Amino acid sequence: MHSTPRTDDPPVLECRDLAVRFAGDSGEVCAVNGVNLTVRAGECFGVVGESGSGKSQAFMAVMGLLAENGRASGSVKLNGREILNAPRKTLNAIRGVEMSFIFQDPMSSLTPFLRIGDQMCETLIEHSKISRDEARNRVLEVLEMVRIPAAKRRFGQFPHELSGGMRQRVMIAQALLCKPALLIADEPTTALDVTVQAEILDIFAGLKKHTNTAIVMVTHDLGVIASICDSVAVMYAGRIVERGAAEGVFYDPQHPYTRGLLRSIPSITDDPNADAQVIGGQPPNLLNLPKGCHFRPRCENAMAICAQELPPLLERKPQHFGACHLEVTP
Ligand SMILES: Nc1ncnc2c1ncn2[C@@H]1O[C@H](COP(=O)(O)OP(=O)(O)O)[C@@H](O)[C@H]1O
Ligand SMILES: [Mg+2]
Repeated sequence: MHSTPRTDDPPVLECRDLAVRFAGDSGEVCAVNGVNLTVRAGECFGVVGESGSGKSQAFMAVMGLLAENGRASGSVKLNGREILNAPRKTLNAIRGVEMSFIFQDPMSSLTPFLRIGDQMCETLIEHSKISRDEARNRVLEVLEMVRIPAAKRRFGQFPHELSGGMRQRVMIAQALLCKPALLIADEPTTALDVTVQAEILDIFAGLKKHTNTAIVMVTHDLGVIASICDSVAVMYAGRIVERGAAEGVFYDPQHPYTRGLLRSIPSITDDPNADAQVIGGQPPNLLNLPKGCHFRPRCENAMAICAQELPPLLERKPQHFGACHLEVTP
């Protein structure tokens, strides 16, 4: 049975001052800046923010999968070992084994001409010294874990024979094969329709309950975070602007941007006729960030100091951090 992650458990993932810069024709883009976060065993850590806020690139850096023109700096420790910018050989031995990932498009990580069961067995045999029979049993076990009906039959099918939802389940199963300590899921439900989204989230909830895997859930959808995450980091213009327990961030948000995001969720409990509000203004241009607080041009609470100084991420409530010049409200 899953227990709530304890703050004295050693971290599975620890990022310190993580930054990602891309070289481009019109100059250098700093897509991720000063990111600090810790994810523990059994914890589901949500990373949320509008499109372009640096969520994916932060974790591409963690996985060592940045594009050619990208450079990462800072520190990323997986189970205490530094892995940022580690040699390709080291990363190849870690990825899919100690650290797995799931992307938005399940087709991108499946080989189209290999049967589902065969590609999963190959992955397993490649990474662990086990027989084909043992591999087959483990594959069936994980296919059942992600609630794939008639798993034995699916074993012999090709990816194109499966629906989008089934493919995403296969991806999750594939990611779990080697019992990774860390699972990074980047918008795993975004490409799916609403009912399938709910089923996939339910599978993640099951993982939380029955395994001790640390999960990072990257999404632009606060609804996804609310349903399964223990902790949340809110990103804006490449920086974490708020971080804390999910409950605190939802019920006592410390940053005007988080409040804006929360208002943009269509509400089911309040007035059903009320329209969700979209945060006004444009997402920031990373090539030309405003001086001071990057959110200032869109902020309803902006003060004079906000145009001058970038607010640091400070503890505003116990274990609840916000980067805003506004006074803490009691
Ligand atoms: N290869 C690249 N070269 C230049 N800029 C990039 C590259 N990849 C991503 N970016 C920029 O990094 C920023 C953050 O992107 P990303 O992390 O994908 O955002 P999201 O929060 O939507 O996942 C974006 O502004 C994007 O344009
Ligand atoms: Mg993304």
